[in-house]
Amino acid sequence: MDIYRIRGGRKLKGEVPVSGAKNAALPIIVASLLAEGETVLKNVPNLMDIKTIIKVIEYLGAKCEFDTARNTLKINVNSLCNAEVPYDLVKTMRASVYVMGPLLARCGEADVSLPGGCAIGERPVDIHLSGFEAMGAKIDIEHGYIKARAGRLAGAQFPMRQVSVGATANLMMGAVLAKGTTVLENCAMEPDIVDLGNFLIRMGAKIKGLGTERIQIEGVKKLAPTSYTVMPDRIEAGTYLLAGAITRGDITITRAVPGDIEALTATLSDIGFEIGKGKDWVSIRPGTKLRGTLVRTLPHPGFPTDLQAPVMSLMTTLPGISVIIETIFENRFTHVGELRRMGADVTLEGNVAIVRGVKRLTSATVMMSDLRAGAALVLAALAAKNGTEIRRIYHSDRGYEKLSEKLSALGADIIREEGGKP
Ligand code: UD1
Repeated sequence: MDIYRIRGGRKLKGEVPVSGAKNAALPIIVASLLAEGETVLKNVPNLMDIKTIIKVIEYLGAKCEFDTARNTLKINVNSLCNAEVPYDLVKTMRASVYVMGPLLARCGEADVSLPGGCAIGERPVDIHLSGFEAMGAKIDIEHGYIKARAGRLAGAQFPMRQVSVGATANLMMGAVLAKGTTVLENCAMEPDIVDLGNFLIRMGAKIKGLGTERIQIEGVKKLAPTSYTVMPDRIEAGTYLLAGAITRGDITITRAVPGDIEALTATLSDIGFEIGKGKDWVSIRPGTKLRGTLVRTLPHPGFPTDLQAPVMSLMTTLPGISVIIETIFENRFTHVGELRRMGADVTLEGNVAIVRGVKRLTSATVMMSDLRAGAALVLAALAAKNGTEIRRIYHSDRGYEKLSEKLSALGADIIREEGGKP
């Protein structure tokens, strides 16, 4: 298994381009199943999660050609030969459950292995299921599988009991081919949902209210394949801004959407960093005086839970006390134990983390426990004294394209080594 060796202490400097958004690309790739013919997607990041979702749609009958050098994915869909997604595919990635929407819409049935819990919490899919039930599907759980049956899905009014990115995406994909009008309430307003919606509209779907909490979808009989460019990844963008911040460097992220990361840039300004912005770039450099801050994770446009672990690493290097309140996932502090091993001073009380800044993080051998916890360790290592060894880096391969290349180009001392200990 590969490892990262990082020697901390270098101030990062220069420009780094943001890749396509993983969390937009995943549902968009799945949504291509809704139309017969060839879909061409550009700016698709070359990531493990993307390769997994390609395997899932290939299993269902799609033919895919992924040109990883050009980040272009061609998807050819005719009839779907399978309406079942087995455990072996779902267990590696929860987003596989997205196929329910297109399968129900096109085949009237879907058998999808029920995703289990994961490192960051229980993560049920009850909102996805009750939404499809509201649209007329009959759903049973048998032998670990969700078995959903419907004729043609029917438009419905469905208020979600909690904001869910996944349920909003899944139900939108079901509703675009349903009979009649669907009104989804308490929807996720994440830019990734807006990107999915814009892709569906390009295919001929009739959707209003994208980016608001009320999305109205008038079902159509058929959708046509199209070509589409996936939006930039706001979590990757935020992670590089935090890498600039934690090393007190001077960096600019390019090919970004500044409006999508305002919760982070406002927090960084509050801490005392100087933020510059243009149409598609954001820059960061340290101001004269830095201080601790308060972060509460919330659905978009609030502070994203996916940047909670990375921002904690920054907090460990700030003067005074910082506080994080995690409101989205119940167990998203698995990075804390590893950060403590690097000298961080973090106290946990339920969903609250109290972070006291230390003079300097120190090196240690640490292990990634999930994708964003992994990013937090890489950031901490960039600031730590001496060399840090990071194991289980397959977690960061799920969501960060060319991580070591991009950090090296900014001047970081990072090496990816093959064959480290697991
Ligand atoms: C997506 C993102 C993930 C991000 C998360 C929150 C993808 C592939 N993943 O995950 O990176 O951290 O949004 O921004 O886009 N919930 C239920 N029942 C449901 C669905 C969700 O109780 O049926 C709960 C979850 O357990 C969680 C909260 O709702 O506590 C939000 O989850 P959700 O927005 O659905 O996250 P994902 O779509 O899984």
